[in-house]
Amino acid sequence: MMKVLRFADLVAQGQVQGKRVFIRADLNVPQDDAGRITEDTRIRASVPCVKMALDAGAAVMVTSHLGRPTEGEFKPEDSLAPVAERLGELLGRPVKLVSGWVDGVQVAPGEVVLLENCRLNKGEKKNNEELARKMAALCDIFVHDAFGTAHRAEASTYGIAQFAPVACAGPLLAAEIDAISKALANPKRPLVAIVAGSKVSTKLTILQSLAKNVDGLIVGGGIANTFMLAAGLKIGKSLAEPDLVDEAKAVIAAMQARGAAVPIPEDVVCAKTFAADAPATVKAATGVADDDLILDIGPKTAGRLAEQLKAAGTIVWNGPVGVFEFDAFAHGTETIARAIAASDAFSIAGGGDTLAAIAKYGIEQDVGYISTGGGAFLEVLEGKTLPAFEILARRAA
Ligand code: 3PG
Repeated sequence: MMKVLRFADLVAQGQVQGKRVFIRADLNVPQDDAGRITEDTRIRASVPCVKMALDAGAAVMVTSHLGRPTEGEFKPEDSLAPVAERLGELLGRPVKLVSGWVDGVQVAPGEVVLLENCRLNKGEKKNNEELARKMAALCDIFVHDAFGTAHRAEASTYGIAQFAPVACAGPLLAAEIDAISKALANPKRPLVAIVAGSKVSTKLTILQSLAKNVDGLIVGGGIANTFMLAAGLKIGKSLAEPDLVDEAKAVIAAMQARGAAVPIPEDVVCAKTFAADAPATVKAATGVADDDLILDIGPKTAGRLAEQLKAAGTIVWNGPVGVFEFDAFAHGTETIARAIAASDAFSIAGGGDTLAAIAKYGIEQDVGYISTGGGAFLEVLEGKTLPAFEILARRAA
């Protein structure tokens, strides 16, 4: 990683005792309609930094965004209250939630408070300088530990790092970049990437960049449907982006030019409606009807991909290959997940849906590295320098 100050080093050097420490974490977790947290990997992954600061005798402020609320408009569903509760359980001590915190926060050494959803502050998204300066004034040390938000340059992730007296990387941020860069610097071949999700458009740059490097590029979900169109197959009413068929063809051609391939499904699981109880029918990829929705890859395709994954040296996984939330359309994703678990390959996985699939099939222990990043994870894979690392490196220079 680029040279940045590390919070762990400041702690080891005794520079944290009695200091006001502001930790930007990524506690943006999925919730159900009642606001209950459905998957808490990011909160658990953020605990070590908070503990490190508390054990070092700091006065600790933690904040995060939750969702994408309208700035300046508080709505109860945007509150970090459920996160404060879960964080408290994990730390074994109550965590007070503080709102209206930009102009001052009361917190004593040895205490921790959670500052309400930072995206409620006006100017957060656009990295407003006045807001960033006020946040920087709250602390002696700013710790960026929000790997999941490391690809954003917002007031609480970027501006504050410019203006805080000291700005450093928290243990999660440092571990993530170390692990992903190390795995990709000199990957054991064959390197197989699975990029799935609803839209090609949101993942086009990652597909293009992986096409230059990986030995196999497995596409899934709506992305695979667009690739099926590119391969001249009919996809009925399935989700796809016909405008991007040429881009998909270019990715296929780039892979072929290197002697690698984008496997196109040979069979698929279709339904007539998008519903958990919709009857599921396995069809050959050449037999999709005009009123069909493709909701999963078929068993032959899944089996073939599983073989490819078992023989891989390194696997990068982002995105489920079907609508795995519905049991009838979960077979493809489950087969992929179990193949990754059974493979000797070093595997790295990231993205919210991917984490949910890993949890659903209980394969956490069998994945080499699970990233808390979604978009950030993809941007690192693309080889981009994320704003978080750029500004922390600048501050360390
Ligand atoms: C994520 O969930 O990927 C991060 O928390 C970033 O959220 P954002 O895409 O709303 O910036």
